[in-house]
Amino acid sequence: MPHLPGAYAFALPTDEALGAIAGVSPGGVVELGAGTGFWARLLADRGVDVAAFDVAPPPSAQNRWFAGVTPWYPVRPGDESVAEGHASRTLLLVWPTRNEDWAAAAVERYTSAGGQCVVFVGEGPGGSTGDDRLHALLGEYERCWSCAYGAHGGACVCGIRPRWLHRQVIELPRGHGGDLRIYRPDDSCPPLRPTPPQATRTRWWRRLIGRRLPRRAGQAGMA
Ligand SMILES: C[S@@+](CC[C@H](N)C(=O)[O-])C[C@H]1O[C@@H](n2cnc3c(N)ncnc32)[C@H](O)[C@@H]1O
Repeated sequence: MPHLPGAYAFALPTDEALGAIAGVSPGGVVELGAGTGFWARLLADRGVDVAAFDVAPPPSAQNRWFAGVTPWYPVRPGDESVAEGHASRTLLLVWPTRNEDWAAAAVERYTSAGGQCVVFVGEGPGGSTGDDRLHALLGEYERCWSCAYGAHGGACVCGIRPRWLHRQVIELPRGHGGDLRIYRPDDSCPPLRPTPPQATRTRWWRRLIGRRLPRRAGQAGMA
């Protein structure tokens, strides 16, 4: 079966991105949600030992995006549970599905198993990839913006302890699918600051500009 036009990947790698992954993966790579295995193929061509998994490896009709597509690399059936059996490898997540929890679950399992390096390719919190829990685990929230301002529109992440810190960011060219971030464990990461309950009742603009607006002489109290 020929490769269909455009049936590569949601994000397109660069030499720099592939080189960076290879450089932090002496024990190889485990890629979850690998889709067509395009990144896996290019990494393998550089000599990286890659184990690629997807819950519905193409050409499976169950794959929403790549049904009928011949993969570039052997992609085995597997979900987030696979992560804990491959802690000696770098965990690679390229464009994990938006607002689905499996990538966060994979990071949690990989962390518990002692994994030492996560590579994420996609967009940050509030973007098109992963869910709030994933970005919180990866240390991309300074605090729970949802509780603090109600402005982000995302889920509360107060209870999530970030365990990772990005050490390197490689921007992909415009249109290639966001950026690539390399994370290392950081046990010194403090828990996200829980927001006191009264803060959610405070008007968001007042929290932004300070505690209280100055009053003009003779002005009645503001709401
Ligand atoms: C948006 S696609 C990205 C695919 C590929 N990484 C790319 O960049 O083209 C998300 C992929 O995650 C896979 N997926 C969904 N749930 C999964 C799970 N629980 N475990 C592993 N893969 C999963 C889908 O089948 C799909 O191939």
